[in-house]
Amino acid sequence: MSNTQLIVALDVDSVAQAEVLVDQIGPDVVWYKIGKQLFTREGVAALKMLKSKEKKIFLDLKFHDIPNTVAQAVKSALSIGADMVNFHAFGGSEMIRKTVELNAQEHPDALLIAVTVLTSMDQQALAELGVAGTPAEVVKRFAGMAKSNGAHGVVCSALEIDIVKEACGKEFQLIVPGIRPAGSSVDDQKRIMTPSQAAEKGADYIVVGRPITKADDKKAAAAAVLEELK
Ligand code: C5P
Repeated sequence: MSNTQLIVALDVDSVAQAEVLVDQIGPDVVWYKIGKQLFTREGVAALKMLKSKEKKIFLDLKFHDIPNTVAQAVKSALSIGADMVNFHAFGGSEMIRKTVELNAQEHPDALLIAVTVLTSMDQQALAELGVAGTPAEVVKRFAGMAKSNGAHGVVCSALEIDIVKEACGKEFQLIVPGIRPAGSSVDDQKRIMTPSQAAEKGADYIVVGRPITKADDKKAAAAAVLEELK
């Protein structure tokens, strides 16, 4: 049995819509992801709604700024109830180190997660920014840097699980989006894997949005993913 946990992405405009989804999905899903779409409109209310239902929250705001600003932003995120927060590895080692130093002691269970390379970027887009190497090489390099500065894990595609686990060890937490149960619509995702494949490879968390939130029977869709993770 895998320990892979399911995080459902609440990519909607309002807390009201998010709450309907959470209630339809039911008690079996513990983790939810709030991203820029919902947070920018509704802010803390979205977290309060989830906390009132005793859910765990991945606040996916991908902070990227000077070290002090990101460290303080993460502190704010944890103070409003986030259990997992992320920031861009591209912000550099000092930014990650200061963020961990300021927050890890006060919130020992919080997961401080780096984003390596956006899956929308290919080698040419990286070269344009002066970043050398294939996306896989850059992911490995950035993940190693994030780990050595105290981050607890990274967001990565399922195709990168092997290289990151090999480089950073099995305790380093991997949060994996781009998951599609067999037979469901691919939407705009390019490099996908099924829940069971990602679990077998060692994903610690999988992020699933539309295959659950757009399903006719959302509870059954979530249950099917949870069943695959067993
Ligand atoms: O609906 P879907 O399952 O494609 O949603 C995936 C979620 O994971 C979205 O919120 C998306 O922003 C996020 N994500 C992603 N790929 C990344 C990073 C985050 O799909 N590389």
